[in-house]
Amino acid sequence: MNSKGVSICITSAKGGVGKTITTLNLAGLYETLEKKVLIIDFDLASGGIATALNLDVNKSIYNFVDDYNNNRYKEFKNYISSYDKYIDILACPKDPRQASKIDSKYVELIIDKAVYNYDIVLIDTNHILSDINISTLDLVDKILFLVTNDPLDLKNLRSLITILQDINYNNYKIILNESVAPFKKYFSLYDIKNIINANIDYVISDSFYIKNIDNIIMSGNIITLDSKMPNIFSKDYTTLMQVITDMYNEEESK
Ligand SMILES: Nc1ncnc2c1ncn2[C@@H]1O[C@H](COP(=O)(O)OP(=O)(O)OP(=O)(O)O)[C@@H](O)[C@H]1O
Ligand SMILES: [Mg+2]
Repeated sequence: MNSKGVSICITSAKGGVGKTITTLNLAGLYETLEKKVLIIDFDLASGGIATALNLDVNKSIYNFVDDYNNNRYKEFKNYISSYDKYIDILACPKDPRQASKIDSKYVELIIDKAVYNYDIVLIDTNHILSDINISTLDLVDKILFLVTNDPLDLKNLRSLITILQDINYNNYKIILNESVAPFKKYFSLYDIKNIINANIDYVISDSFYIKNIDNIIMSGNIITLDSKMPNIFSKDYTTLMQVITDMYNEEESK
């Protein structure tokens, strides 16, 4: 691998828009390109990466921070749980009460350790503008916003994008995710672009709505690692592949 990996934060202006599922799907696709991936679960109080992957986690971000604070820290890998040969995770605390003990000053340290150990670092967040999330947005190479065809979500994203534009951020891409609520079609793509006052870079279509997604999550599988995926979801598979190659190539060509 190259000496320094690419860090990508998956975020949104509203909850429940598909961030966690998309993070897992992107990780799966990077695996198919033989990239070593670390997923960091910065949804500290209610993250679901370890649970979705059925991983029994010993150490979390909380232990990393706690050990670092108390001079017990030795190696980054001691805090990592492995999903398979290519995908590792750094889990959110098991006990949500530990989340508030994680100071945002550690975000830089964590991302730094991560990018020197992995090709790709995917960071799942929640939609709240907490210090942790603000630091993350500030430090990552790439930001991926997920948005749905929902008025509140779109209005919130517009405010968020305005802030990013004010502070001259241009390292973000926006994905319209039609797969979480495929029946919601109130606004056209043209309307959506007008509401958020920004471009939609990619669309995950309503054909990617997966009826038995709960089964897949319960079994700990990643959708994009299913060998039937490229055939069943060919259009959205191509889109997601485009997302991951764009993210990787843009950084590599810098
Ligand atoms: N492709 C899909 N097909 C069907 N349901 C989906 C799909 N993607 C996501 N969902 C459903 O949408 C819900 C929200 O997804 P997810 O947890 O990934 O969103 P999130 O943005 O991470 O939420 P939160 O803000 O709570 O962290 C989940 O219940 C999930 O089962
Ligand atoms: Mg989530």
